[in-house]
Amino acid sequence: MFLPLFLAVLSSAEIHFLSINWRPTHCLGIYCDDMYTQKTFINRFWQTNNDGERLDDCYGPDYEEPEFEILEMLSAYWDIHTVNRKSSWKSEWEYDGICFNPWVPEEEYFKKAIEAFVRLDIEARMDEVGIIPNLAEKYSYYDLGNAVGNTTQVECEEVNGETYLKSFNVCYDSFMNKIKCIQDIGNCSPHFYIPPISF
Ligand SMILES: *[C@@H]1O[C@H](CO)[C@@H](O)[C@H](O)[C@H]1NC(C)=O
Repeated sequence: MFLPLFLAVLSSAEIHFLSINWRPTHCLGIYCDDMYTQKTFINRFWQTNNDGERLDDCYGPDYEEPEFEILEMLSAYWDIHTVNRKSSWKSEWEYDGICFNPWVPEEEYFKKAIEAFVRLDIEARMDEVGIIPNLAEKYSYYDLGNAVGNTTQVECEEVNGETYLKSFNVCYDSFMNKIKCIQDIGNCSPHFYIPPISF
C-alpha cells in the first residue's frame, strides 16, 4: 500500500539539467560561422539520481538518425559547435539520453530538451529582466536566475583575470517542471560578464 507513494517520492527527487551554452563566450578566439543567429544553444541534457550522482553508465539502444523534423530542431537549438554535429548528438544520446529516468525513446529525449529550451525563451527573458549582453557591466548569478525563472548554476571562462559566462544550467523534475538548482557559481566571479555577440 505504501509502495507506490514511496516510488513517486523517489522519482520526483531526480534532477534533470538543461545545460545552455552562451555562444559569444564559446566563440571567443575561435571561428563560429553560426554565431550570428542566436546567443544560446542547448549544450547537454543530463540527470542525477536521488543521491545527486550523475547518471552516465546506462544501457539502451544505439543512436539512430532522427527523422527530419527532429534533425531540423536539433540544428536550430542543439548546435554544439563541433566539426561533426551528428556525432555530438549521438554521444549525447548514448551518454545522457539513455539514462533519462523515466526512460524515453531517443526522439522523445531530444524533444523534451528542445521544448523546455524553447519554452524558456531565454534571450527574451534576459532582455525583460534587464540583462543586456555587454562588456561594461557585470551580472550575477541572481540576475541570470531571474531570467531563468528559478535558481541556476553557472560556469565561466576566464580571460585575463575576468570571468565570462560560458554556460548555465536550468533544473527540471521528471515532469519537466522547472525546479530550484543548488546554487553553484562554478568558476565564475560573483559578478561576471555576459558578452555580446562580437567582442
Ligand atoms: C522554482 O523551484 C521551486 C522549487 O523547486 C518550485 O516550487 C517553483 O515552482 C519554481 N518556480 C518557477 C517559476 O518555476
